Amino acid sequence: MCGIVGYVGPKQAFPILMKGLYRLEYRGYDSAGIALIDGDLKLYKTKGKVSDLENFVKDKDTTGTIGIAHTRWATHGEPNNTNAHPHYSQSKNLAIIHNGIIENYASIKEELMKRGYHFESDTDTEVLIHLIEDIRNNEKVSLDEAVRIALNQVVGAYAIVVISKEDPDMLVAARKGSPLVIGIGDDDFYLASDATPIAEYTHDVVYLDEEEVVCVRKNRKIKIKTITNKDKTAYVQKLEMNLGQLEKGGYDHFMLKEIYEQPHSILDSMRGRVNAKKGIVKLGGISDYEQKMANADRIIIVACGTSWHAGLVGEYLFEDLARVPVEVEYASEFRYRNPIITEDDIVIAISQSGETADTLAAIELAKSKGATIIGICNVVGSSIARATHAGTYTHAGPEIGVASTKAFTAQVTILTLMALRIAHMKGTIEKSRFHRILNELEAIPEKVKETLKVDNQLKELARVFTYTRNFLYLGRGYNFPVALEGALKLKEISYIHAEGYPAAEMKHGPIALIDKEMPVVVIATNKGTYDKVMSNIQEVKARKGKIIAIVTKGDKDVKKLADYVIEVPETEELLVPLLATIPLQLLSYHIAVMRDCNVDQPRNLAKSVTVE
Ligand code: F6R
Repeated sequence: MCGIVGYVGPKQAFPILMKGLYRLEYRGYDSAGIALIDGDLKLYKTKGKVSDLENFVKDKDTTGTIGIAHTRWATHGEPNNTNAHPHYSQSKNLAIIHNGIIENYASIKEELMKRGYHFESDTDTEVLIHLIEDIRNNEKVSLDEAVRIALNQVVGAYAIVVISKEDPDMLVAARKGSPLVIGIGDDDFYLASDATPIAEYTHDVVYLDEEEVVCVRKNRKIKIKTITNKDKTAYVQKLEMNLGQLEKGGYDHFMLKEIYEQPHSILDSMRGRVNAKKGIVKLGGISDYEQKMANADRIIIVACGTSWHAGLVGEYLFEDLARVPVEVEYASEFRYRNPIITEDDIVIAISQSGETADTLAAIELAKSKGATIIGICNVVGSSIARATHAGTYTHAGPEIGVASTKAFTAQVTILTLMALRIAHMKGTIEKSRFHRILNELEAIPEKVKETLKVDNQLKELARVFTYTRNFLYLGRGYNFPVALEGALKLKEISYIHAEGYPAAEMKHGPIALIDKEMPVVVIATNKGTYDKVMSNIQEVKARKGKIIAIVTKGDKDVKKLADYVIEVPETEELLVPLLATIPLQLLSYHIAVMRDCNVDQPRNLAKSVTVE
């Protein structure tokens, strides 16, 4: 949601800011804008895409070596030209961009209106810039001080950047609940809501902490303060991101590229953490807490969306291997239902972006009750990664497609490693099984590569089902979360209604939907409840539903019944989700492409959901 870019330095800011906005498009947005200072403070914004903004400014003056730019995902006020960011202050001397929500904006607005301020937009953001200007004028303080004082009056979440015509070498930024990264160049600074717009210019970054205000000026040192006015030292980290990871690299879409990256992303998630020969699973990030995990009476997993599906796989893994009860919670439900949490609880928070507002709030709640929080995040330095006591990064690389693909398989990989590690410590897994699974884990990246060969078959299948209106996905055991994930992938990028169900639950309701028009995707791999799934397939068949079956290579029985069969390589039952998910990702992808949908940026969706 919403993207922020800022630049100050010796170069022209416009091309850097525009490129940054393009890099942030994946986060989801509905309007875009830019402000530049070159004597004047110029501000251009428009509803629509970044390319619309680029067209809009074609014949305008875009000179200036300082500027801010924004992609907006509407919260307060509809997506239109006026509500788009940046916003001017009343005098038009200041401009602001903002991610997040100012919850008490209405009372501040009322107060400002009484004092003669006028508002052009319906946004909470315009309220904040007027407030900053009001403080600056009344208290005769510098811009960074005015920002700091203003933020003390604000309730809500924000990442903001402010520029001033009167101080044309300076960017002032702050964060609370929304991320902000500062890139430090040789003689310039780059600000952004994540590192993707920064990576091509510098690898030295500072992740701003909660309630910190930063002031960067051309040729000066970075200055950070808390909003309570304490000086802070900037902690400069090395960014591990390369340009290739941010481009499509010959693929038509980021989503397809990311699906194809999975042999590598799964390998990267395991790198240095598994040694099958020596029988070792090691997760450095949680080593101080693994004994506590092993002693825990229960584990609670909190997440949203696809990460929640990974959490469900985690439940099966931890219960099966480590014999510890697991509850998997939608973060949004968990936080609002007065859950019972104790100091002995282990809470595992899973998030690709590391910025999901509900997951973050669930963490804070569990932390306040004394629980130990373990993170599984993809984005290094993200808010969730920093809010947890310890954790393990998935190392899947930047995921740009809004539909999560490689992050899911990386999360499942990490959960497998965690469950194996804890099981090994507790002695709840037989040595032979432990070694067999480790060997099989090491073989998984090759098997994922093998699985990707079904791509053409799925393209053909997508042709058959392009205009189908409903889909049902069924699976049992480890394949139940796979069914949920398959359905989510289809609906979010192709807008086809799809539901995932535990296969046996079908007869308790969804079976009423089945007729010859209804495709039913059944994950029917050869272990676990294979025979039971066969019976479910019979039930669909008897009602003339069209069966698309995901089976283990060499399967004969399902083949006799199914209309379409997709094979995945043989593996351990608990590792099947890593393979069976892939054809479902490809099916959704090809159907969405054939329906001419915007695969990488589906309507209404955002990559990191930073509002509740
Ligand atoms: C689906 C998808 C979303 C996210 C969800 C949580 O493809 O991407 O359902 O999984 O918004 O996001 P993270 O994992 O960033 O917390």
